[in-house]
Amino acid sequence: MADPLDCDASAVRGALSRRKFLTAAAQGASVLAVPSLTGCLAPRPAKRVLTSDLSVPAPFQASLPLLPRLRPKPSPDGISRVALTAGPGSVSIFANSPTAVRAYNGIFPGPIIEVDTAQRLLLLLTNRLSDPIVNHLHGGRTPASSDGFPMDLIVPMTPLTISPDLSQVGTAGKGDGWQVFDYPNQQRATMLWYHDHRMDHTGSQVWGGLAGVYILRDEEERALKLPSEDRELVLVIADRSFDSQAQLKYPVTQDGMLDEQYMGGVLGDVILVNGVPWPSHRVATGRYRLRLLNASNARDYTLELDRTMPIGYQFTQIGSDGGLLQKPIHRRKINLAPGERIDLLVDFRGCPLGMPIRLLNTRESGVMGHIMQFIPTQSVAEAATLPDTLSALDLPTPSAGMVERTFDFKYNRLKKIWTVNGLAYDPNRIDAKPRLNSTEIWHLRTDFTHPLHLHLVHFGVLQHGGKPTAADMGWKDTVSMVAGETSTIIIPFKGFTGRYVFHCHNLEHEDMRMMANFEVVA
Ligand code: C2O
Ligand code: CU
Ligand code: CU
Repeated sequence: MADPLDCDASAVRGALSRRKFLTAAAQGASVLAVPSLTGCLAPRPAKRVLTSDLSVPAPFQASLPLLPRLRPKPSPDGISRVALTAGPGSVSIFANSPTAVRAYNGIFPGPIIEVDTAQRLLLLLTNRLSDPIVNHLHGGRTPASSDGFPMDLIVPMTPLTISPDLSQVGTAGKGDGWQVFDYPNQQRATMLWYHDHRMDHTGSQVWGGLAGVYILRDEEERALKLPSEDRELVLVIADRSFDSQAQLKYPVTQDGMLDEQYMGGVLGDVILVNGVPWPSHRVATGRYRLRLLNASNARDYTLELDRTMPIGYQFTQIGSDGGLLQKPIHRRKINLAPGERIDLLVDFRGCPLGMPIRLLNTRESGVMGHIMQFIPTQSVAEAATLPDTLSALDLPTPSAGMVERTFDFKYNRLKKIWTVNGLAYDPNRIDAKPRLNSTEIWHLRTDFTHPLHLHLVHFGVLQHGGKPTAADMGWKDTVSMVAGETSTIIIPFKGFTGRYVFHCHNLEHEDMRMMANFEVVA
């Protein structure tokens, strides 16, 4: 259905696709174009599967890789330090044909960085790739200069430069081909993730491999004695597509920009978990903690466990984007949108040895209807208990006088861009100025599936489609919305002043302008 607001005179005058603008600008031409009004009837672009050019690997052949963990200890000055290099890497997805990736420390996903809350960490990131990068810690309460603003590029390091001696570095900083990020980690324990955030190119950069997990721990969580070490599985789920040479394929035009046909969102036809297709993992007949991240560009998953599980084929959800829930909740079906994380317990007690238990994606059928499988191979006896109360949430409640704002996330059919309150992203425009230490209420409205994410903060979801839903329990930093929905969130602006972004985490929507700035002011 055409929306009259998309077709008013000013929209017609201003209408020009970004691509045409760039091409015209590159040719030095003056930019003039009058689109026809039939543009108003152009449908909103749907997500689109990018089909691989070779036959996709058979599921359940590869074993699940456990991602390496970096656990930096504090130096005598009280600061922990860790170095990452973004550079070319290669992964093994197809037999006999390595796949080139853009990787952190040579691997995809990148290594897990693990520290305690309130343990300040300096991260040195060096760029050994051939194009600029931007690094963002998703879910982190980070000073603005270390947050990875989309224009905050780390250019490729020139060959003779070397990065600084990290042990001598005491603050955030930046130089030729490197940046030091300051992560104070003054926030709840949870699973965050770091990923590329380069203006216009986040979709291709993350698809190319620039994503990794970051875990914050604390005493409250340790006291719960949750399954740990080999019973705590970090699972990074990401769909991808491949060309005939087993290389990652992503739809860009010659100028390196996203092909407009895919601006609804790029879907892959291979599901990777920790970088391998539909893996298999051997488990003991006990309790596991599964910490999932949806690192896909645009794909949502509906997670369910096989009905073949004899007992408790439900998940016990213990945490969400912003850490532990107040109480565990039992869920049979979980939607996980791009950018979201979820913390689950799964109990394999009573499962017959040798019989695979599949983690399904029930929004699809066939091979895409699967994510991975667990095979119980070792029987153990254990009495596992979980307290009724996991954590004190201290979620804020609405009160009179709180500032309220409304944001509309929708497609503009004439300009062929995704907008926030009718506007395309402009890095220089500030769209909201919340006060530091104030709490605001934001009303979000969407025309399509949009996982909406705010930097710096975590928020509570007051209503989603008219009521609170299980999917929005606890503290969130990404709220997954479907077409026509409204949601109301309550946001304490704590930590830092400065400029941050909020955007749709469908990375193609983000690159096609569905992003805005807020500036926290003193
Ligand atoms: Cu996961 Cu703005 O990012
Ligand atoms: Cu973020
Ligand atoms: Cu979106």
